[in-house]
Amino acid sequence: MCGIVGYIGKNDTKKFLIDGLKELEYRGYDSAGIALLGDDGIETYKAVGKLINLEEKITQNCTNCFETPVGIGHTRWATHGKPTEINAHPHLGAYSFVVHNGIIENYKELKDELISQGIEFLSQTDTEVIVHLFEKFHKITNNTKEAFCKTIEALHGAYAILLITKADKDKIFFAKSGSPMIIGKSQNEIFFASSDAPLIGYASEVIYLEDGEFGEADQNGISFYSNNTTKWNKLQTSKQLAQKNGFRFFMEKEIYEQSEVASDCMLGRIKDNGISFDEISLDFFDDIRDIKICACGTSYHAGLTGSYLLQRLGNIRCEVEIASEFRYKEPILDKNTLFVVISQSGETADTLEALKMAKNSGLKTLAICNVDNSSITRVADVTLLTRAGIEKGVASTKAFTTQTLVLWMLSLYIGKIKNSINNNLLQNELRTLREVPRVLKIDSSIHEKCKRLSKRYLHGHGFFFIGRDVFYPLALEGALKLKEISYLHAEGYPAGEMKHGPIALADPELFTIALMPQNLLYDKIKSNVEELSARDSTICAISPLNFELADDFIKTNLCDHYMLEFFEMLVALQLLSQEISIRLGNDVDMPRNLAKSVTVE
Ligand code: F6R
Repeated sequence: MCGIVGYIGKNDTKKFLIDGLKELEYRGYDSAGIALLGDDGIETYKAVGKLINLEEKITQNCTNCFETPVGIGHTRWATHGKPTEINAHPHLGAYSFVVHNGIIENYKELKDELISQGIEFLSQTDTEVIVHLFEKFHKITNNTKEAFCKTIEALHGAYAILLITKADKDKIFFAKSGSPMIIGKSQNEIFFASSDAPLIGYASEVIYLEDGEFGEADQNGISFYSNNTTKWNKLQTSKQLAQKNGFRFFMEKEIYEQSEVASDCMLGRIKDNGISFDEISLDFFDDIRDIKICACGTSYHAGLTGSYLLQRLGNIRCEVEIASEFRYKEPILDKNTLFVVISQSGETADTLEALKMAKNSGLKTLAICNVDNSSITRVADVTLLTRAGIEKGVASTKAFTTQTLVLWMLSLYIGKIKNSINNNLLQNELRTLREVPRVLKIDSSIHEKCKRLSKRYLHGHGFFFIGRDVFYPLALEGALKLKEISYLHAEGYPAGEMKHGPIALADPELFTIALMPQNLLYDKIKSNVEELSARDSTICAISPLNFELADDFIKTNLCDHYMLEFFEMLVALQLLSQEISIRLGNDVDMPRNLAKSVTVE
């Protein structure tokens, strides 16, 4: 989720790049950089941390810097390599610079080949291969267009790329596949950005590039090397709307982003024969016999979901604890336990302290985290980044999705290295993982249905969200989403446990949201819901199978794996909570009493 900008024109290049990066800082802020290309050569500035550090560096060092008609910039969310100045973009070759958002999946093969041909790499990033490939092909062809086309042909993965070169100094070469890129124009100026927001006030018209489109731009306009569907659109003028990409709330935008971030989360990690985590050394699991997961809130729910998968697919014992409880129970810790913490922010005080306790007791530690260089990632032995990009809505959505995906991948990783998963099952799981981004693409009919249903569920004396197996933590998560943004009382419960007490509450004013997947314990959950229906509870069933006792029904798609149902139902629960909150007139993105990062006990 990095952000990129580019500029060609006679006005203030630096100003557009810096202003543009400020608008994109939400996409990543562990380092930033710009490169400026003019008659006198290339100048580049990079700094670690927030954009303000880059601005200060430019102000100190660029007192006499030349006027440059061409420039590119980048704000980074680390995926390959730590957030250091060397790893910050733009990446340089001998005479060219590149910025990139996305992940080059085959970078290792390309890098090894380039190294064997004598090319020296400075950074640990996947991006650097692009600029060296370009220069290699340029040396062979002596033609920038051909060199760029050959470079793009060689890349697999997701990318939005801008490249500038002294060999053709009036141009920016661009390519898009899987990561967003927009081109804007005004009189005699061309702009590039990862979203609308940087272009507002600068460009009058924009093109939203489609996957597979690439080409070059100069002062005279744009030439595509690919087939293109170029259509100039008028640019909207509201910055607020642009930051939210037209969505009403950041939460809504983040719900809709889940398909994209799921792809980012899995990129480069799913191979033909299993899961690969570059971050984990080969012997890391040698002495590990079980796993303890610690987290808070939504991250705890992801942990609970993961515990089912780790046991089922990884064949490894796994316990999950709420971090604030774990800290004070004087836990007995075993050196053969891997201690896993999960955190979106990487700053949650209880989770951080639990991690320190485990580390001080000599346990191996692993963090699943969204923010690189956060406190938690600095303490843990190993970090698996979730790559969800910045989450602005206080109610966590896309972070949960990516945490669950990492845990699912980790289960398969462990299953493979411990030889406890057979190849047919492994292949089926890998195929299913690849399906997740498609399932997370939101069907407008589900959103419409949630809008309509939200009218019915405003009053009553409470909600029960019920499910079994992984759908139990999903029920907990659905209930948490609803209570935090609607302020209605909601509880998540294991469906089979209702008859042991809570069923006493059942009456028409008790709303039951029943998660009824086709592929996991359908008959069991059906009986549990029938028991509630017999006691007159109002039932809203979420299922691909018709259920005649349901008062309301959200129909999900038929599919062949319970985890695909899990993600489809997750989206329905998120949208339902959001629509109820909107109807109640609440502030969806900043609900009362809550904070995005809980750095106190
Ligand atoms: C709920 C929510 C919180 C967080 C919890 C832990 O929507 O966002 O429950 O999940 O405060 O935060 P992190 O994951 O940053 O450790």
